[in-house]
Formats: sequence, C-alpha cells, structure tokens
Amino acid sequence: MKELSQIAQAVQASTTMAIDALFKQMKAEGVDVIGFGAGEPDFNTPDEIKACGIAAIENNVTRYTPAAGTVELRQAVCDRMLADCGVAYKPNQVVATSGAKHAVYLALRALINPGDEVILPAPYWVSYIELIKMVGGVPVVVTATEAEHFKLTPEKLAQAITPKTKAIILNNPSNPTGMMYDKKELEGIAKVCVDNDLYVVCDEIYYGLVYDGRKFASFPALSEEVKERTILINGVSKSYAMTGWRIGYACASDKVAKVMANYVSHSTGSASAISQKASVAALTESQEKIEEMRKAFEERRDYIVERMNAIPGVSCIKPEGAFYVMMNIEQLIGKTIQGAEITDDNSFADAFLKKGLVAVVPGAGFGAPNFVRWSYATSMDNIKEGLNRLEKFLAG
Ligand SMILES: Cc1ncc(COP(=O)(O)O)c(C=O)c1O
Repeated sequence: MKELSQIAQAVQASTTMAIDALFKQMKAEGVDVIGFGAGEPDFNTPDEIKACGIAAIENNVTRYTPAAGTVELRQAVCDRMLADCGVAYKPNQVVATSGAKHAVYLALRALINPGDEVILPAPYWVSYIELIKMVGGVPVVVTATEAEHFKLTPEKLAQAITPKTKAIILNNPSNPTGMMYDKKELEGIAKVCVDNDLYVVCDEIYYGLVYDGRKFASFPALSEEVKERTILINGVSKSYAMTGWRIGYACASDKVAKVMANYVSHSTGSASAISQKASVAALTESQEKIEEMRKAFEERRDYIVERMNAIPGVSCIKPEGAFYVMMNIEQLIGKTIQGAEITDDNSFADAFLKKGLVAVVPGAGFGAPNFVRWSYATSMDNIKEGLNRLEKFLAG
C-alpha cells in the first residue's frame, strides 16, 4: 500500500499519555492512586449555564448555525473581550470553533505555508508543537528558564528570527508554567514582532484565572498595530468549567477571520448550536460563580506552593495564573528513590506513580526536562494527600 501522509505520520501521540495510561490502569485495578494530570477544572459547569443548554435542546436550537458561529455568540464574545480585556472586536472578526484547540489549529492554517518557521517559547503546551507540524510549519523552540520565570525575553525572541519566521505562539497565562507576562513584558515582545512583521497567535484561555489581584494585560489590547497582527485565542473551557461543551473562539482581522471561517465551514462545520447557546449564557450572565472557582484555585495554589517548597529535594516558583505548577526535580537526578533510579523527569514520574501512588506529568513533553507538572484542578483533600505522599516518597 502507498505511504500515509508524511505530515500526518510526523504527528506524535501525546507524550503525557504513557503515565496517564498507567494511572488509569492502576485506578481500574482498584489501586488508591491520585492524579494531578488533569488539564480541566474539577468543578461542574455552573447550573445556570447548564440550564441554558437544556433549554436550547427543548427549544429546538439543534440545527446548523453560520460556520463562524451565531451572531449572538460572536457579539457576546466581543462584549466580554471588551469588558475583561479592553480590546474591541466586531462580530465578523470572531470565529467560534469546536474548542480553543481547534481555534489554534485554524489560526496556524490561516497563516502558515509549508516551511514557514513558527517560534514557540518553551515550556509550551504540548499541542502547540504538533499543531505547527500539522500545518507544515517548522517549530523553532526558544527556551525560557526557571530563572527567567519561564518567560521569553525580547532579546531571545529577536535572536530566533530568520527570514523564514512567520509567526510566534504566545500563551498567557501559561500552561504548563502558570506564569504570566505583565504589560511591560508584552510590550517588549510586541515591539520585536512589529519590527519583524511577525503574526502572533496569542492564547489567553486562562486569562480569567489570575491570582494575587494581578491585572491581566491582553496582548491585542496593546495597540492597533499589535492587534492587526494578532490572532487572539480564547474560549469557555477553563474559566467556566465547560471543557466538554467544546466552544473556543478566535478574534482576528477581518481577512484572517474570513479565512478561518472558510476552513470551519469545510471541516467541522459550525460548532454545536446547543453549546453555543450555553456559551452565550456563560459570557453574558453573572460572573460570580467564575470568581468563586478562581478563588478556590488561588487557595489551592497557595497551599501547594508552600508545602512543595518545604520538602527537601524539590522546589517550585509561584504560579501567577492558570492551575498548574512546575516542580523542579533537578536535585533528584542521579539519586535512587524507593529502589528506582531517577535519571530524568520521565523516570521520576514513573517511580512516583508506581511507588508513591501519585500521577504527575513529566516536563519533557512541554520542552521542560527536569520538571514535572502538577495540576491543582483537583480537591484540596487530594492536594494535601498528594503532598503527604510526595514527602513520604522522597523520605523513603
Ligand atoms: C493553553 C491551552 N490552550 C488551549 C487549550 C484547549 O482548550 P479547549 O479545551 O477549549 O480546546 C488548552 C487545554 O488544555 C490549553 O491548556
């Protein structure tokens, strides 16, 4: 038989899958394991939003919508972006998609020709690197160290640019690091992007989950010239605990939004009509529940960071947003713990799961070797027990 597509074959299965598969197998076998791998809130979708979804079905809102989404949803996105992020879009500049992940894919589809380079700051969300490859682009990874608070500097960005560079992916606040760029830092990066005529795919899906009273600075809100080269990615999955509803959106210039909408119309077709209706409720009704969830995440973060830094052998810097923390395990490399030799983050995660009964995600898949990611989108009881187990595992 003839060979499959080379582009398709180059796409890697998620590197986080091996640990996750083992975790699920152990759980199914009745082993008392605790998972910190989840990339989704443990909260249920708020009742008012669910009620809108149910009403949508009962009212027969069950048909195709325009490919880019209903005008009602696109207007709700515009209003929310203006209110929360201070950036003004028109409904024809918004494209609703089946999840924010698909919005990233379509943004790259709209921008990238085969061979174009896309700068990807590491640590990065696992899907970005594969998405770049899926559109025929070439990922150029630029690493930001823990000492740099995992944040790309304008100098490092400038050094990575070549005549082939077309775009950069920025994720703020970041999965997996939880770090957040402030306005000044963004301005430094934006200047390099404008000077070098780069597009910016800016994924701000965690903008509603920021802590310590910080003010979130949205990238396209910096200036008109920044906005016109930005494709803003956002969605309801994280802030509204709606991961399974599959609604994301992109905001961009008229031209880019039109190209993306054409892709939607010939691939997935419009996102679910029912989910779009529920998302309108999420974006337009009281944001009180969202604030309750945000506060719960902040409390968990405070607890996890303090305990982690008190345990010998590991450390972390304090995340400023999202619901992840990167634990530095450099000091453990080369040691034998509970009979297992720790050579890297993968062997640590494997041993911690098998002997410590806790699942965390190895950092290598995020371009961050010698780190493991804990998600604190889980109950405080689980967090306490997970850290007790870490202490015991390392002491043994
Ligand atoms: C940075 C980032 N962007 C996008 C997504 C995907 O969101 P969605 O579930 O809406 O596709 C995730 C999910 O983990 C994420 O962490």
